[in-house]
Amino acid sequence: MDINFNGRVAIVTGAGGGLGREYSLDLAKRGAKVIVNDLGGKLDGTGSGTSAADQVVAEIKAAGGEAVANYDSVSTMEGGRNIVKTAVDKYGKVDILINNAGILRDKSFLKMTEQDWDQVMAVHLRGAFCVTQPAAAVMKENSYGRIVLTASTSGIYGNFGQANYGAAKMAQVGFMNVIKQELAKYNVKVNTVAPNADTQMTRGIIPEEFAKKMKPKFNVPMVVYLCSEANQDSGMIFTMSAGWFARTAVVSGEGVCLGDTERDITAEEVRDQIDKIKSLDNAKPFWNSGEVYALSAPLMGL
Ligand code: NAI
Repeated sequence: MDINFNGRVAIVTGAGGGLGREYSLDLAKRGAKVIVNDLGGKLDGTGSGTSAADQVVAEIKAAGGEAVANYDSVSTMEGGRNIVKTAVDKYGKVDILINNAGILRDKSFLKMTEQDWDQVMAVHLRGAFCVTQPAAAVMKENSYGRIVLTASTSGIYGNFGQANYGAAKMAQVGFMNVIKQELAKYNVKVNTVAPNADTQMTRGIIPEEFAKKMKPKFNVPMVVYLCSEANQDSGMIFTMSAGWFARTAVVSGEGVCLGDTERDITAEEVRDQIDKIKSLDNAKPFWNSGEVYALSAPLMGL
């Protein structure tokens, strides 16, 4: 059976261009009513009133779909509530939320200003909170929801000049890990993607020969699948680029138990065991923070 979103209402933030536009077009083509949110459309988050969202709404309507624009910033609680209110006022609910809005303020770490830090945190991290909380409240009412957060390999693995962005992006994973548990009982699945594409955000950074293969549209299938009823996973991270899709995970290795919970443990013991401690052989992800401590079972007498 084909994946469709008939009767579903989706919010896509930062959807005036780039990846968000692509997600919105495909969701609408598959029957979703889409709230196309964007405040401006420029890389630094400015350009409000230039109606980037309006253009995407027009494209959706021209293709026979349903959509409404919203111009609020994701980075204030008032903005987040308004985005969700737009969905509820117009279409009565929210089933799907793709937190996609983003900006860059790249600087090498020692040159990064407080403002560079705060602005990036405001859009990516505060933005995820401000939109997701009101959306999740509506999803809870309907016992259904699909939330996709947007991370980046810049945070998961690191990228020069992006201490602010990398921190904000990896924080999506921490945010997901907690809300996936709190929202599970309401049938809300929360997942995170680390996309990769030639958009205004990466233009000039990715060499031309690769950029032309990294089309934004190749990120759409994974995100749209995660937004569908077919997806029953929650708490997963997926990384993708140019048609490559893979699960990424935070894992812990088996590790080593030292001492006996009474005697002191020395730095030398750690030194002598460091290869085993570092080993990721048999490493596993865990659903919550409690589960990982099962690895210390021999010490805990479990
Ligand atoms: P983009 O710059 O084309 O899209 C981001 C959109 O967010 C823009 O249209 C912008 O106006 C909007 N936006 C910025 N601040 C906003 C705010 N406060 N409220 C509402 N909208 C706001 O960039 P792209 O590449 O499409 O990025 C989409 C997401 O994917 C971002 O979260 C980005 O960090 C992430 N990402 C992109 C990668 C890539 O290779 N393009 C790599 C990893 C992550």
